[in-house]
Amino acid sequence: MTSVVDYRKMTMQLTPKHELYDEVAAQLSSLLAGERDLVANAANFAALVFHSLPDLNWAGFYFVKDGELVLGPFQGQPACMRIAFGRGVCGAAAAKCVTTIVPNVHDFPGHIACDMESNSEIVIPLMKNEHFIGVLDLDSPLVARFDEADAAGLETLVKILLASTGTDVS
Ligand code: SME
Repeated sequence: MTSVVDYRKMTMQLTPKHELYDEVAAQLSSLLAGERDLVANAANFAALVFHSLPDLNWAGFYFVKDGELVLGPFQGQPACMRIAFGRGVCGAAAAKCVTTIVPNVHDFPGHIACDMESNSEIVIPLMKNEHFIGVLDLDSPLVARFDEADAAGLETLVKILLASTGTDVS
């Protein structure tokens, strides 16, 4: 028997990516309306994205603190808590401040394996008022799960988050 969850997953997989991101963007805007707290908004962002996009095993944030990346709100398995700039996929994206798509994490030198299920990854830098404040990180058990459509969609979602929110994570 096909369950409600299966239908939801099938719908996610059949919807064209840009339409799915448009829907998630609308949901995110209403979810964050009226709240300025970065941790609260990042937590609901992670939950919404994790449950709305197909084939993810981790979705969450690292924020800049004390000169390194420190784990923020996320959904998925427990993850490493501190990442130095330049280390792993997150640290590399942070050092260059560019969206980074890794089709196969096992081919990425220095990849930090937090969840053995992860095979591909995308990292989006967070820029607020021209300051780098952290990254959004998504992992997938599928190889080559993320492409330019995901990069564009996630960059839009991050803009909504940052426009809705202050920067204080301490
Ligand atoms: N794989 C990341 C570490 C964070 S976890 O995936 C949640 C990296 O190499 O930076």
